[in-house]
Amino acid sequence: MRTFSSIVIAIVTLAIIACVRAQNGKFSYVIHSAPAIDIKSIDITPIPILHPGEAFLTFEADLKRPINTIATALKIVRTVSGIKLPVNCYKVEGLDVGSCNYTDLCVVLKTMLPSFKPETCPAAMAIYGIDCNCPFKIPAGKLNIIQEKLVLPDAKQSIASFMATGDFAIRLDTSDQQGPYAALTVNFSVKPKPSAG
Ligand SMILES: *[C@@H]1O[C@H](CO)[C@@H](O)[C@H](O)[C@H]1NC(C)=O
Ligand SMILES: *[C@@H]1O[C@H](CO)[C@@H](O)[C@H](O)[C@H]1NC(C)=O
Repeated sequence: MRTFSSIVIAIVTLAIIACVRAQNGKFSYVIHSAPAIDIKSIDITPIPILHPGEAFLTFEADLKRPINTIATALKIVRTVSGIKLPVNCYKVEGLDVGSCNYTDLCVVLKTMLPSFKPETCPAAMAIYGIDCNCPFKIPAGKLNIIQEKLVLPDAKQSIASFMATGDFAIRLDTSDQQGPYAALTVNFSVKPKPSAG
């Protein structure tokens, strides 16, 4: 009887800890250098990001140079149950996936987000020059994307299946024809959406 109640207490305690963790889950980022952009805020909610599902993106910045073709080196570290697992660059269906050097960040988004296409592009993004065609055509000046809805696929079915679960730290080193644009690391966690019932 005593053993049984300690087990119950342990389970309840774990459930509370798990709950608090989830509620405290926040998107965070560190800017390493940003010669071409003054980043005011970046946020994604909810964290953990649930998929398939919706996430809301906030990105407020002052661009000193326009964003067109933006070369990006990604370094992705995935942490699962406290173990850090660096993600390699590998090929899926002929496409680079993971910690690779990409010639255009826009193409990376297009590959990972099936809704990133002109037919389903969020209308509000058009005023910033984002029509979900690549490369981007974002003019210099203020960019104020506030709580814009992103439709996320089931990551397990996508080519970036490693993104399905875990805590992620992604370093992005971006550059344009004139040189370095911005370097930052973003941290967030991802979980499959619990199925109903
Ligand atoms: C990406 O480019 C950097 C700098 O040129 C290089 O050190 C790194 O090995 C490259 N990564 C891949 C996956 O090719
Ligand atoms: C981001 O994740 C990395 C790798 O797990 C970790 O070392 C770093 O402290 C995290 N940064 C923040 C701001 O949480």
